[in-house]
Amino acid sequence: MSFDIKSLVAARFGENYALHEKYLNSTLVKVLRTIGFDKCYARAEGCYLYDAAGNDYLDFLSGYGVYGVGRNHPAIKQAVHDALDLDLSNMVQMDCALLSGLLGEAVAQIANDPAAPSPLGAREASFFGNSGTEVNEAAIKFARAHTRRDRVLSLNGSYHGLSYGSLSITQNNNFQSGFGPLLPGVGYVPLGDIAALETELAKGDVAALIVEPVQGKGVHFPGTGGVDADYYQRAQALCRKHGALFVCDEVQCGLGRTGKMFAFEHWGLDPDIITMAKTLSGGLVPVGAITTRRAIYQSVYSNMERCVVHSSTFGRNNLAMVCGLATLAVLRDEKLVERSAERGEQLMTALRDLQKKHEMIKEVRGKGCMIAIEFQKPSSLLLRTAWAMFDKVNKGLFPETIVHFLMKDHRVLTQVAGHNMDVIKILPPYVIGDREIERFINALDAVLTDCRSPFGSVWSFAGNLVKHALAVKKG
Ligand SMILES: Cc1ncc(COP(=O)(O)O)c(C=O)c1O
Repeated sequence: MSFDIKSLVAARFGENYALHEKYLNSTLVKVLRTIGFDKCYARAEGCYLYDAAGNDYLDFLSGYGVYGVGRNHPAIKQAVHDALDLDLSNMVQMDCALLSGLLGEAVAQIANDPAAPSPLGAREASFFGNSGTEVNEAAIKFARAHTRRDRVLSLNGSYHGLSYGSLSITQNNNFQSGFGPLLPGVGYVPLGDIAALETELAKGDVAALIVEPVQGKGVHFPGTGGVDADYYQRAQALCRKHGALFVCDEVQCGLGRTGKMFAFEHWGLDPDIITMAKTLSGGLVPVGAITTRRAIYQSVYSNMERCVVHSSTFGRNNLAMVCGLATLAVLRDEKLVERSAERGEQLMTALRDLQKKHEMIKEVRGKGCMIAIEFQKPSSLLLRTAWAMFDKVNKGLFPETIVHFLMKDHRVLTQVAGHNMDVIKILPPYVIGDREIERFINALDAVLTDCRSPFGSVWSFAGNLVKHALAVKKG
């Protein structure tokens, strides 16, 4: 056997960016080089990535929220090794495999509160797919099949994925533009605007309202930004009144990310459909799930001819099921949902203390380990002028420079929270401890301290980005 993955990795390590430039997304390579994220990581563990020289990088990006349990969790790795050693049958398709049945059972256990059973029936029927967008596609299909209505509503600022159905309910021109026409029958309502929602629902043709209980882009949720804290409860009640399903996209905010197993629990909601992915994978094998009430599920698989009318070849594959099962066990055994709540609170407290020192921090908001840090114009005339100039060329440039310097000077990975906003988002693994929190706070403190001087490196780097952006615009 000539194939040996260990020697292949050892022999070709370092060719990463050249390979991507030639064979994959060369534009991404350009961006990564510009923002100084063009690293070659050799290894990862828990909250850290390591380069070949052994330098550690603190991962507050978590692969866009995949690594709730941390990277290469030993129990999940072991479960994958063990499953491979069992030489199990896999994807027979025309059978009912044990592992998918077990993951269905495990998901039903976390999706319902035994102390408060829903009068509408338990969420106990799951469909497994391979990604967040795929299970949101499923949610649209299930809602249409059940209600026999066409329209789907989502919220302004939403993000549900990039395949056509999910992209259509993603209210974001940056992602949609150039790909139309999108799915017909989609409408958007502002988060918090109950009257607008009722106007749409009253038309009687809405199959579902889909919400991310804590929005990924910008980390918005009721109780912040002037949105009434009871918006979701009222929205859910309106959906029931008008015969539409209430769907929670928990792809990013679910499975402990916000300090509850599901973010909808913060508002005591009873969604008809939940979608989840990211953390469920344990960071090893992609998996997504849509979980709903049996009656809704059966509207899709309504007779024997339609028994696979919605399916996906790889959807119930063993390794994905193993990762899902092992991840849920780790969340439970290590009490990581509770830990996400505690560590998130500790981080936000430390960030709010930092806010007292740095006027450029406008707001810190979040739940559990899903946190936004919003920035605002500084007060000094010189800095205000610089900020305004950058803002004019590209709103969101300032947080990009913060992300750059957190990486460059402190080896901390973060991300901007979305297009056209002055916000960075942090999604640390729930396993962070005092050391990681301290390192992050000290790093942000140092970068913001540098911003106080108009001659600080933050402003000169932002200036270079502006020059670059203008050169690109001119062509
Ligand atoms: C809330 C939400 N829904 C759906 C998706 C899409 O998931 P995926 O990238 O796995 O398709 C994401 C991804 O970031 C997300 O944050």
